[in-house]
Amino acid sequence: MARKPMMAGNWKMNNTIAEAVVLTQEISNRYEKEWPEHVDVVVCPPYVDLKPAKTVLDFDRTKIAVGAQNVYWEPSGAFTGEISVPMLKEIGCAYCIVGHSERRELFGETNEDVNRKAKALVADGIAPIVCVGESLAVRDAGTTDEYVCAQVRAAFAGMDAADAEGAVVAYEPIWAIGTGRTATPEQAEAVCAAIRATLGDLFGSAVAEEMRVLYGGSMNPGNVAMLVAQPNIDGGLVGGASLKAESFVQLIEACL
Ligand code: 13P
Repeated sequence: MARKPMMAGNWKMNNTIAEAVVLTQEISNRYEKEWPEHVDVVVCPPYVDLKPAKTVLDFDRTKIAVGAQNVYWEPSGAFTGEISVPMLKEIGCAYCIVGHSERRELFGETNEDVNRKAKALVADGIAPIVCVGESLAVRDAGTTDEYVCAQVRAAFAGMDAADAEGAVVAYEPIWAIGTGRTATPEQAEAVCAAIRATLGDLFGSAVAEEMRVLYGGSMNPGNVAMLVAQPNIDGGLVGGASLKAESFVQLIEACL
């Protein structure tokens, strides 16, 4: 299988510029030349930290990419408080998270919003990391696969295979985020396989086999190996454990 794993740190609303520079420098100091051959490493700090983090990584010439946590789909205009794709592009963001469950739950983001954001990103050459995942109520109702795959279909609506090719999907069960309660490797693999099958329906199996599907939700150095060993789990989107260089580097090394 040709898929290269990805380890992406979602810092969420953590780290001031000064703290972000320190953490990015600590990760960069641990960078090994062999990483890029085996794993794509991404850090996703808050907007204000993007440029400082990118500057540190560029200065060190470390092949660690920078991603944003959100974006607005219009390129410019009267949208107070929003950040556009061209703005992220100018900073050198290679990725942008869209549809994180915290944005869906706390900020009312809909499937349609996620789709608009993903389309705006691919149109400008930034790879979306599309987050999907079910609540505990959905899991208990036994409808996880239908729910998550409907989120995938909605996020990619109107896109063709060429648009979707570089995109990444992150399966993040809401009940596992920040709770210390990780999905078992079998639970995560089952949903990631269903996601890949859906991507196959949408874009053909050749493209689906190339797209990365990540797991997120209390991933840590103790459980990463079993998760990334699953055939349809191509790495992680990590919150808490990405906030310390030591644990983030351990997650990266689990993908080598
Ligand atoms: P935790 O790793 O802190 O559970 O967060 C996962 C997540 O939401 C990453 O986007």
